Amino acid sequence: MRVAVLGTGIMGAPMARNLRAAGHEVSAWNRSPEKAALDGIDAAGSIAEAVSGADVVVTMLADGDAVEAVAGEAFAAMDGAVLAQMSTIGVAATERVAERARAADVPFVDAPVLGTKQPAEQGALIVLASGPDDVRDRVAPVFDAVGAKTLWLGDAGAGSRLKLVINTWLLSLTEGLAEAIALAGELGVDPQTFLDTIDGGPIGAPYAQLKGKLMIDGDFPPSFPLDLALKDARLALAAAEERGLRLGALAAVAEQMERAVEAGHGSEDMAATIHASRPA
Ligand SMILES: NC(=O)c1ccc[n+]([C@@H]2O[C@H](COP(=O)([O-])OP(=O)(O)OC[C@H]3O[C@@H](n4cnc5c(N)ncnc54)[C@H](OP(=O)(O)O)[C@@H]3O)[C@@H](O)[C@H]2O)c1
Repeated sequence: MRVAVLGTGIMGAPMARNLRAAGHEVSAWNRSPEKAALDGIDAAGSIAEAVSGADVVVTMLADGDAVEAVAGEAFAAMDGAVLAQMSTIGVAATERVAERARAADVPFVDAPVLGTKQPAEQGALIVLASGPDDVRDRVAPVFDAVGAKTLWLGDAGAGSRLKLVINTWLLSLTEGLAEAIALAGELGVDPQTFLDTIDGGPIGAPYAQLKGKLMIDGDFPPSFPLDLALKDARLALAAAEERGLRLGALAAVAEQMERAVEAGHGSEDMAATIHASRPA
């Protein structure tokens, strides 16, 4: 198959490499072109060039605005390809992209992923797929190459809704962890003793060990950048507000993350949200 990957950042680049490793012909486009130069992959100079002749077009871009702009341009040059939209863009933008795909007569699969940089490199993402039954076979080889498992969840949009639910949990977990570690520091409790005490028990999520280490070391190489985590908190809050739901804890998480982003930590891993709690 020929697969076009639009967006080769932290997630898109390893996904493109795994598609190539699975034997597909891969073309890649990225707004900053140097990032699309990947071994064995055709780096395209334009979106139209990347999607030309493709069977499946994957978008792996920062947010809804980027996907709408890039997919909008891609639709004009796609000839029978399916769009597999794999970025996290929430409910409203997914509906808008689905509508534009319908107008352009492009089959649309909504397929955000669970998993971060390392699972992306290992081809071990979980694909939260939703879309028409009759295109599943066409996108399955793509999802198999980038993921360990694909969940088919129903009509397009169901994947993005589940993704927001998962990230509501994940972001609250991360912020709670950051605050526990920040408090430990100020109370004279060794934060590693806190992590060791919860490890392996019912409240000791493996994720706490992973992100807790970054927080203790104060080193935040981006796996899931903080500015994208804040974007997801806002997407979940917007979806909740539209339905009259009050997510007070998530609103507080978003405020803390915003504070850390404003302090210049947006491109670091989301574990850097701990900066919002620490005394200046
Ligand atoms: N990292 C994770 O752990 C993770 C996990 C699951 C889902 N996701 C989701 O996957 C998506 C990609 O995340 P990532 O971690 O790969 O982020 P990233 O490394 O920051 O990459 C973002 C990509 O979007 C492009 N982009 C941003 N604005 C654009 C615009 N206006 N027009 C065209 N291209 C634009 C960037 O291009 P440039 O290179 O030119 O900036 C880059 O290719 C996001 O929706 C994120 O929430 C991430």
